[in-house]
Amino acid sequence: MTPTQPLFLVASTREPGVVGNTEALARRAAAALPAGSTPTWLHLHGLALPPFEDHRHDRGTYPMPDGDARRLLDATLAASELVFVSPVYWYSLPAPIKLYLDHWSAWLRVPGLDFKARMAGRRLSLVTTSGNREKAQPMIDSVRLCADFMGMPWGGALWGQGGAPGAVAGDARALAEADTFLAQRP
Ligand SMILES: Cc1cc2nc3c(=O)[nH]c(=O)nc-3n(C[C@H](O)[C@H](O)[C@H](O)COP(=O)(O)O)c2cc1C
Repeated sequence: MTPTQPLFLVASTREPGVVGNTEALARRAAAALPAGSTPTWLHLHGLALPPFEDHRHDRGTYPMPDGDARRLLDATLAASELVFVSPVYWYSLPAPIKLYLDHWSAWLRVPGLDFKARMAGRRLSLVTTSGNREKAQPMIDSVRLCADFMGMPWGGALWGQGGAPGAVAGDARALAEADTFLAQRP
């Protein structure tokens, strides 16, 4: 199996140092990455992304971002694949990763950046936890549709039972699925 350079973007809003269920499940999956892989982990909560402003239909372009937005852009472009490590919040994406995605709309319009062309072909996968698998489906579908829009192959969703930190350790099916989720890559 070919080594990869995945970027794991952690969207839980638990306080720093607390490993939530979603990250725990993703770390289990990452343990099975092909030998020689070089994963990067970034916690979105606490990064200072500015509010997104829609300038598509006035000035039409955006400047190259700076600060934490630039750091995220660089990490995104440096990755060979993306893994969203995101719990379900209100049947949807938590605000930090939703804001990161909104900034993609700006990055698509930075002159010379070619963000969409450069991201096309890089796999996007999702590791998620919530109280209920069935009600996670709209959020899973939302991420899959974002991948489709960007021309990014969909790597699928790994779901585990969430709740208080440690809850996912009791979900034997999710843990077993994690052991092959990122390992079986073409
Ligand atoms: C703001 C908020 C909204 C949530 N909304 C949902 C929801 O819509 N459906 C659900 O099943 N669980 C919901 N949950 C529960 C979390 O998805 C669950 O506890 C998850 O495991 C937390 O992930 P973490 O441990 O990685 O932080 C919500 C939790 C929070 C804090």
